Amino acid sequence: MMFMNFRRIRKCLCLQVVATLFVLSVVMVCWEQLDNNIVSHAKSYTYRYLVNSYGFLNKSFTISRQDAERLSSHRYLINHEGKCAGRDVLLLLFVKTSPENVERRRSIRSTWGNETYIRQELSAHVKVVFALGIHQDPQRRESTQQALLAEDRKYHDLVQQDFTDTFHNLTIKLLQQFRWAHAYCGHARFLMSADDDIFVHMPNLVRYLREMDQRGVRDFWVGRVHRGAPPNRHKDSKYYVPYEMYQWSSYPDYTAGAGYVVSGDVASKIYRASLTLNSTLYIDDVFMGICANVMGVSPQEHVFFSGEGKAPYHPCIFGKMITSHGHVNDIHDLWKVATSLKVQKISGGLLGRLYCTVVRVALLCKPYYVDTYPCKSAFL
Ligand SMILES: *[C@@H]1O[C@H](CO)[C@@H](O)[C@H](O)[C@H]1NC(C)=O
Ligand SMILES: *[C@@H]1O[C@H](CO)[C@@H](O)[C@H](O)[C@H]1NC(C)=O
Ligand SMILES: *[C@@H]1O[C@H](CO)[C@@H](O)[C@H](O)[C@H]1NC(C)=O
Ligand SMILES: *[C@@H]1O[C@H](CO)[C@@H](O)[C@H](O)[C@H]1NC(C)=O
Repeated sequence: MMFMNFRRIRKCLCLQVVATLFVLSVVMVCWEQLDNNIVSHAKSYTYRYLVNSYGFLNKSFTISRQDAERLSSHRYLINHEGKCAGRDVLLLLFVKTSPENVERRRSIRSTWGNETYIRQELSAHVKVVFALGIHQDPQRRESTQQALLAEDRKYHDLVQQDFTDTFHNLTIKLLQQFRWAHAYCGHARFLMSADDDIFVHMPNLVRYLREMDQRGVRDFWVGRVHRGAPPNRHKDSKYYVPYEMYQWSSYPDYTAGAGYVVSGDVASKIYRASLTLNSTLYIDDVFMGICANVMGVSPQEHVFFSGEGKAPYHPCIFGKMITSHGHVNDIHDLWKVATSLKVQKISGGLLGRLYCTVVRVALLCKPYYVDTYPCKSAFL
């Protein structure tokens, strides 16, 4: 009997040791990954101050005007020089799209990018322009181009340049926007750049920009800010950047490319910076950060510009949201509920505000990381 018990205990112990070893090895593997991440972030964060404060970037990215011109100027294939003319334009809104994303453009035109709605319901002049290049597949290029021309005859809102529309050419698309703004829309009070899979709460955005305009803001650049982000040095990553392309351990501060807004004076500064900088760095939002850094402009955080995640669906969120990421199929529904009058009613009055704060805390303050709006936004 005693012998049996002893054997059982030994077996138990053995299992325990094996289990412990297993857990330990998992922890070690994870730790190494975590550690790498933590170390590279800590390192880049200490570099951040240097990169943001001194002229390193200007020095390493400045090239001759001719070289910069050669890298960044592309012929227009579709253009509307007069789209912005005359009127007092509050916002020039660029939607970065690709030739094949016909459905996304259609959805945007009939929801948050509907200029007529914005003019009639919000009494604001917002110009919505879709920025794109040419189809990346040469075999489908011709047919897609015909379809694009037909689409443009109907809506007059495409601006296309002669470059291949790919991830690695996004910086060309960035410069396309700032060049177009400089050439044809220099009087717009604000410029926004948005992906075609985000949702923009246009009434909230217009209200916010009007307020900023009344304050006469300058050097204004707002969005979801990345501070001291390290370059990705993993060769198999989409965001991989070799040392030759960017030599420092930290990027300058920049806003996520999915959606950000700059004031007119910043738009023109970015344009001017782009005339003398090497634009081969293909991470477009980082390159925007470099241009701004050279001109002495730094971004500011707005908590209701979302990160990668979708905003939670709730009237108490809709009352505050500016952008939310990752909306393609639900965009019509979201537009309907997010702009309905019920939203204003629910958060009205002291009780409404209190109720909404509680709801937002419940939705946004999670013990784990969700990349939508930060917890502190619940209290605003
Ligand atoms: C950037 O560097 C160039 C030459 O290296 C210099 O001419 C220019 O004034 C600098 N720009 C700023 C904003 O410091
Ligand atoms: C844009 O909004 C106007 C006014 O609300 C509406 O009449 C029109 O149908 C909308 N356009 C689209 C494409 O949905
Ligand atoms: C970017 O566009 C240029 C001009 O069309 C093209 O030569 C180049 O291959 C494109 N780059 C990528 C990565 O597609
Ligand atoms: C721009 O930078 C790239 C590296 O990213 C380099 O290969 C290229 O020579 C530079 N262009 C000019 C004109 O200096």
